[in-house]
Amino acid sequence: MRTALVTGATSGIGHAFCRELAERGNNLVIVARHRARLENVSDELRARHSVNVEILAADLSKRTQLRRVADRVADRERPIDLLVNNAGFTTSRSLLKGDLADEEAMLDVLCRAVLVLSHAGALSMRERGRGHIINVSSVAGFVPTSTYGASKAWVTAFTETLAHELEGSGVSATALCPGFTRTEFHERANLDMSGTPKAMWLEADWLVRDCLDDVRAGKVVSIPGVQYKVIAGVAQLVPHSLMRAVSGRADSLRRRKR
Ligand SMILES: NC(=O)c1ccc[n+]([C@@H]2O[C@H](COP(=O)([O-])OP(=O)(O)OC[C@H]3O[C@@H](n4cnc5c(N)ncnc54)[C@H](OP(=O)(O)O)[C@@H]3O)[C@@H](O)[C@H]2O)c1
Repeated sequence: MRTALVTGATSGIGHAFCRELAERGNNLVIVARHRARLENVSDELRARHSVNVEILAADLSKRTQLRRVADRVADRERPIDLLVNNAGFTTSRSLLKGDLADEEAMLDVLCRAVLVLSHAGALSMRERGRGHIINVSSVAGFVPTSTYGASKAWVTAFTETLAHELEGSGVSATALCPGFTRTEFHERANLDMSGTPKAMWLEADWLVRDCLDDVRAGKVVSIPGVQYKVIAGVAQLVPHSLMRAVSGRADSLRRRKR
């Protein structure tokens, strides 16, 4: 039995990671803000898969609460074999119409928490000579939209750098870059997704299995779905000005609920 720590474990992609990892016999440490939802996930995983589940209620945008989670990741007595930095959200308004505090909290969760927890995980895993880190990024990181897209570009680039630094240590780092996935993410941000074609939607359970296959294959960047592999490839070839125009238009359409 190995132990995985998953942030944002109570919903969507994080919850799918927990189900799949428990199905494969891993014990879990689950992190999110709302304790009642963590307890529901814990009860479900224990009942279905007979694994141990530890609950860590923490708001990763708060430094002291993030430090508690980092200390758990670094704990040598209770090693974490797989770290999944998944927690995240986006804001409903554009930078100049929204609240700067929301943008800062988003950066704290999407970037600072990923940095701090990856640092704690990489050091303790390297010491043991084994382990995996998965940082949930997004295809939005290949396309220049908003603080969210810029944060995800950072997550992918950071993970690539980390993977390079860990080469030969027995520890791997993978950036998972999903496209639109059916979770609570868009509803929480009050985004209008009605114009998104059916073919662009991914299912969380499927993309998690695809990602774990990529981790096993040693891939540093995992892009689930042929449609998104094509988009990510094209985004790196076409002129940046064209990508800016297309993605900016799509972004403002999604924000029209506000
Ligand atoms: N859905 C998509 O289309 C999509 C596409 C590409 C990438 N992603 C990325 O996938 C990851 C997971 O998103 P999702 O789609 O599964 O969203 P989701 O269903 O809304 O789940 C988000 C999870 O993160 C937790 N969370 C949010 N803010 C937090 C904070 N400050 N501290 C600790 N936990 C926090 C939430 O629990 P609490 O509210 O209880 O804290 C919840 O468990 C995110 O990084 C997102 O950027 C999503």
